[in-house]
Amino acid sequence: MKIIAATNNANKVREICEIFTPLGFDVVPQASAGIEIEVEETGDTFKKNALIKARAVAMLTDDYVIADDSGLCVEVLGGRPGVMSARYAGEGATDKEKINKLLGELDGVEDRSAKFCCCIAMIFPDGRELTAEGEVKGRILKEPRGENGFGYDPVFFSDELSKTFAEATNEEKNSVSHRGRALAAMYERMKNENK
Ligand code: IMP
Repeated sequence: MKIIAATNNANKVREICEIFTPLGFDVVPQASAGIEIEVEETGDTFKKNALIKARAVAMLTDDYVIADDSGLCVEVLGGRPGVMSARYAGEGATDKEKINKLLGELDGVEDRSAKFCCCIAMIFPDGRELTAEGEVKGRILKEPRGENGFGYDPVFFSDELSKTFAEATNEEKNSVSHRGRALAAMYERMKNENK
């Protein structure tokens, strides 16, 4: 089954493919399907933003559409950067700049508890909409560690893996990550939907 991934983020596409391709889905990035739009994320929750992105692409295709909205929520910052994770250090900032801003805000802070959250939205060709959420707990290290992954991965120490997401292999990260969990929950919902 062909699914258009409503994102221009190559790392998200890779992780969605790693999990959904073995389940028998043909995941096609929106750009490869000729859909070149950048959607404004105006929602104040991951779910609202995932649906905004999925609906915008679903208007332009008759295929299934999948979208991801995700981010890092730091407890002592009241859940920030949250839905603003991509734009936390300004529009177009690099991952390094985002990490440096975060480490600056947490300078001298003892409680570094955090979680990654993800909402996956799926829109069927007949217009049905499904959403599924996932999260993973951990803490923010004082310095980056590891070379894999993207975004905040080098400073996110996963309680379950006992290493940062940037030190983990793709398989290890996918097995516990917010995105891996949201995609697994979505797969279950889709199976129930098609019963
Ligand atoms: P958005 O979903 O397009 O709003 O972007 C989410 C942002 O959260 C990304 O640009 C990353 O900075 C961050 N993020 C989301 N998921 C991950 C992840 O798995 N690892 C590291 N950073 C992530």
